[in-house]
Amino acid sequence: LRFFPSLLALISLTVAMDNGLLKTPPMGWMAWERFRCDIDCKDDPENCIREDLFRDMADRLVEDGWKELGYEYVIIDDCWMSMLRDEHGRLQPDPFRFPGGIAKLARYIHDRGLKLGIYADMGTHTCMGFPGTTLDTINIDAQTFASWGVDYLKFDGCSSNPIEQMLGYPLMSKALNATGRPMAYSCSWPVYVGGLPPKVNYSLLGDICHLWRNYVDIQDSWDSVQGIVEWFSNNQDDLQPAAGPGRWNDPDMLIIGNFGLSVDQARAQMALWAIMAAPLIMSNDLRNLDNSARFILQNKVAVAINQDSMGIQGRRLLQEKNHIEVYWRPLSHSASALVFLSRRTDMPSLYHTSLAKLKYDTGNYEAYDVFTGSTVTGLNATTQFTLSINPSGVVMWYVYPEQTSKETETLHYQHNKASQFTFHKAEPGHLTVL
Ligand code: GLA
Repeated sequence: LRFFPSLLALISLTVAMDNGLLKTPPMGWMAWERFRCDIDCKDDPENCIREDLFRDMADRLVEDGWKELGYEYVIIDDCWMSMLRDEHGRLQPDPFRFPGGIAKLARYIHDRGLKLGIYADMGTHTCMGFPGTTLDTINIDAQTFASWGVDYLKFDGCSSNPIEQMLGYPLMSKALNATGRPMAYSCSWPVYVGGLPPKVNYSLLGDICHLWRNYVDIQDSWDSVQGIVEWFSNNQDDLQPAAGPGRWNDPDMLIIGNFGLSVDQARAQMALWAIMAAPLIMSNDLRNLDNSARFILQNKVAVAINQDSMGIQGRRLLQEKNHIEVYWRPLSHSASALVFLSRRTDMPSLYHTSLAKLKYDTGNYEAYDVFTGSTVTGLNATTQFTLSINPSGVVMWYVYPEQTSKETETLHYQHNKASQFTFHKAEPGHLTVL
């Protein structure tokens, strides 16, 4: 019995998926929410699922400033496959819609410094009825993806039962590892077993997957965003501790830039996804994005908060009777983020509070308002302040201890070298983002 713990450690070592990827939540673009299973390239050539769509999005990511902020994955979702495997039993893309093949598309994407994600399904069929990956094809599919140069696998779970899922998700993790190609592994397993313990074992998921979908698919509406945030917050005691570097809860794609959200609601999704340490994977049309959506998605401070190196997922702190809610996330360098969300539908509401009421320690603080760019100085924990929060909107603050010296303060955000930036102390008590 004494060597039992070490035996357990050995077992967990053999299934671990720690290939060093996704120390911060993944960022990029995915086809599904915006382009679904549109395979009508005859009547809808601009929007159908084919290689041109992914090349277009890769071009936009590089040319429109996304890549330098960290948005790097271009992820193919369902409906890329041919209905038949090839003569060696390998999955193959639809020959009319992906005439160059996936390996060539991967090269196009890699040549631009981006990464390619692909979709498969643990089960007999994908959710849209394309060929699935059954237990006996897990190895060959992992090898096929590696041979194409894939960097990320979204592994869905339609058309399988809980036993097949329990076997298949860890097996795919092993199979991906065995290819020797570092690939991020996104597991939809929790969705198919209710999303919560005891049916979901989040510590096992953290060992075998880099991220996982917990809950229902996002749709293009504020209702959908609210429902997701509500479910994650109601279950935060189970979900929040599961997250950390290399292991993320995934509340699904960012729908900012589509048809369903107002500007305030789009800010709210960005703010809440940053607090939740959620993947920042957009599903929108980067070729047709208005400036307000672009500014929100490219907000450097919101991105930096999302990408904080401690990787601690935030929590809902308070639900006021008047439908104002407060969310909080601890960040590195003794900083933190606060989101004040109004779920009201009447008019901008005034909210009176203090940092002490939000459980901050005594001390002096400053706050940078993420969406207005203004700075609040001279706060101590007991200072009473009042915010105005728009209906279905947010106020988002980056809060940090007041600087006693006049030196430059750096928010160490190192997604990659090119996207580093600093908060520079322009004059005492004022911050500007460079
Ligand atoms: C499921 C997933 C979605 C998408 C579709 C594709 O519904 O949750 O994200 O991948 O399948 O069919």
